[in-house]
Amino acid sequence: MRPYFSAALLLFALITPLRVVAQHDHEHNQVPAIPSSLQIEHEQIHQELSALLKLSGKTGDAAREVAAALHEHFEAEEEFAMPPLGALQDLANGVDLKEAKGLLKLSETLELRMPEMLREHNVIKMKIDALRAAGKQEVQPAAIAFADKLQLHAQNEEQILYPSAIVIGKYLKLLASSRKTHIK
Ligand SMILES: [Fe+2]
Ligand SMILES: [Fe+2]
Repeated sequence: MRPYFSAALLLFALITPLRVVAQHDHEHNQVPAIPSSLQIEHEQIHQELSALLKLSGKTGDAAREVAAALHEHFEAEEEFAMPPLGALQDLANGVDLKEAKGLLKLSETLELRMPEMLREHNVIKMKIDALRAAGKQEVQPAAIAFADKLQLHAQNEEQILYPSAIVIGKYLKLLASSRKTHIK
């Protein structure tokens, strides 16, 4: 394996630690933990991709291309796109959040960076298509199944995860203005 890909793989392995307690953003505001279902889904993607990276031939090369495109993208998602969703259950139950300020910042960061996130998805989708094609050509069913799974993951993020995280920020602002309070 070329050194570049070894480094990319190592970095990729480091970005998905399970987070079970509240996190802190860059300015030490508390933010909710990423919902475990989402964190586990990212972990599974990582594990399945790690297995494909061991393949030789076009499929292995295509998998390494996917890994290189995913690394920073996953990191960004786990930093500011996923934690806001950790507040959903409390918000639905009418529980006042301790992490509202930190959460609002993450939600606004995601809104600001949406064009970049979608551009990254487009690049990832091209790499997924190449992986699927290589998997078909070299008869690698695991690669084809992984390509389909990752594509659905990205689609789910565009249709549900990202918009939900943005709506949470908007909801917090509306709630604060209806109560004539500031978000603390
Ligand atoms: Fe993701
Ligand atoms: Fe994504």
